[in-house]
Order: sequence, then structure tokens, then C-alpha cells
Amino acid sequence: MRTIDWNDESNSIVIIDQTFLPVEYKVIECNTLSSLCEAIRSLRVRGAPALGAAGGFGVALSAMLSSAGTMDALIRDIDIAAKTIKATRPTAVNLAWGVDRVIDATSDAYDVQGIRDIVLSEAKNIADEDVATNKMIGKHGAKLLKDGDTVMTYCNAGRMACVDWGTALGVVRSAVEAGKMINVMACETRPLNQGSRITTWELMQDNIPVTLITDSMAGHVMRKGMVDKIIVGADRITGDAVFNKIGTYSLSVLAKEHGIPFYVAAPVSTFDFEGWEDTVTIELRDEDELRFCRGAQTAPADVKVYNPAFDATPMENISGIITENGVFHPPFLLEEVLS
Ligand code: MRU
Repeated sequence: MRTIDWNDESNSIVIIDQTFLPVEYKVIECNTLSSLCEAIRSLRVRGAPALGAAGGFGVALSAMLSSAGTMDALIRDIDIAAKTIKATRPTAVNLAWGVDRVIDATSDAYDVQGIRDIVLSEAKNIADEDVATNKMIGKHGAKLLKDGDTVMTYCNAGRMACVDWGTALGVVRSAVEAGKMINVMACETRPLNQGSRITTWELMQDNIPVTLITDSMAGHVMRKGMVDKIIVGADRITGDAVFNKIGTYSLSVLAKEHGIPFYVAAPVSTFDFEGWEDTVTIELRDEDELRFCRGAQTAPADVKVYNPAFDATPMENISGIITENGVFHPPFLLEEVLS
């Protein structure tokens, strides 16, 4: 099944709960706004493109749940829900993009039922388009990979971070589909281990060779010549930087030092065309994510903690940005991305 979808029978959002992976494959249904917001905050559904779909479906859910009898009242309820959804996670621009896109579509509605129909169909469009977009990203990106390449990746920018296929891992999947033999080196991605838990699981399901390393081994394997290319996803791309999972910046510095091409794969919906590095809010997460690892205490319970979820990689560390519209190279003029 897709990472996130809509169930027409129960009028609810269906999600593969990623917090249990790889130990358990569990599907949950969100039929209230608070259960969806909890799922987003807890990373049951996560990854920028999947969050875009979650934002769209969240607006649809709020429209279904509202008892408003007039268009104005329904729009008011939807706007309140939109603010709540957007506040769950601030960094990935796709979440707000998905919410806004669905709300914008309501301008074509003539009555209350029309609003409900439009928001649901637009949310479904976002989900469908995400899969097609990722296939295009894969097609463009696959040309950058050679038969036999080892690609390092970080966090999870695969099908579980999207509706399906994936961005960074979508490039790998498309190259494999084109007959190339690609090895993936997956960094663990502390503190929440999206790399070790989700990326490795996803790739092993597809029989794509993957080797797990800790984040601190990245420099060592690059120096040893064990990495040909690095491909990561993105949560927000501003005029001067790519925001992605904390640790991405360090990898980009190491890649530059070792002359390894460093690519970012992301849909156009991840671009923040007005944003700059210092205008972006980096999500700070619960301190206990560092004091504990999956329930086991790994640090003194009262140690001071700093836990930003994302970092910014400056454009000068990036060799190319792979989007559905093609591969962009320095100096990365954002307007080119739209053409
Ligand atoms: O905190 P997460 O797991 O939502 O962070 C996800 C990432 O940083 C991904 O690399 C990014 O969203 C790109 S997903 C295609």
C-alpha cells in the first residue's frame, strides 16, 4: 500500500505507522484531526512529500468532520484546522504547501458539498501527483548514476517519506529499474534512526543491496574510496540552502573534502521561493530523544540536551538538485526550477 492514503468507506486517513518499523508493519487510521496531528508530531507519518499529502488529507478530514451548514462556516472550520496542522512541524515546507493547495482549490466551490468534494479530490490529486513526480525525479537522477556505483544516503528519502517510490531512493530505484547495479550505503541517522530502521528495510524489500553504517563512519568510508555519490532528500530549499535531516550538512562538508558529488533529490513543492536560511524555523524536538534510544536510557536523565531535527547545507556544497523538471546545477537560480 501507499505510505499514506484516504479510505473512502471510513472517511479517514490511512497511514503506515513508521514508528514501529522495521520490527512491525502496522497500519493505522486517523479519523480525527488530533489523531492526525499526533501522527505527524510523532513521525508515524514523516518525510517532506508524505507530509504534503498529510496536509492535504488533513484539510479534507476537517471538512468531512465539520458540521457547518454554510460555506462561510465551513471555510472558517477548515482555516482553524489548517493552522493546527501547519503548527505540528515547522521545517518541511510541503506540509503547509499541501494544506494551502487544497484550501486554494475551494475557490471553485459553489456550496458546502462542493467544498467537501473539492478538498477531497484535490488531496487525492496531491497524493497521485507525488508518485508521478517521484518517478520523474528518478528518471532524471538515474542518468547521474553509473553501473556499479555505491550511493550514500541519509535519513529516509524513500517511499516511506513520500506517497510512493521516493526521491533520493527513487533515483536509486529508477537506476536499478534501468538495469544498473547500485549499492546503497545508509547512515543510521541518529537520534530517530530513520536510516537504519526505514531506509535499510525499504531497500531490502526491493532486493537492492544496502550496507548500514553509523553516522560517525561517513568520513572514514569516504576517505577509503567506498562512496561514489551521495544523494539526500530535502525538507525545504531556500535561495541559499537546503534544509534536511540534522547531519546532512556534515556529510556535505565531508563530500566536498573528498571530491564526491553531493546531490539533493526533491520535488518543486519542497522549494521555498521566498525563503532564505535565516528565515526558516528549525524544529527543536524533545530532549528525551537523545537521553533515550527506543526506550533504553543512553544518557543521564537530567543531562542538558540540544536536539534540532534539521540543518542547512549551503548551496556551494551541492553538486546538483534533482527535481521532476530536470537536474539543476550551480548557481541554482530558483526560477529555473519552475521551467
Ligand atoms: O524528521 P523526518 O523523518 O520527517 O525528516 C525527514 C527528512 O529529513 C528527509 O530526508 C526529507 O523529508 C526528504 S524525504 C523525501
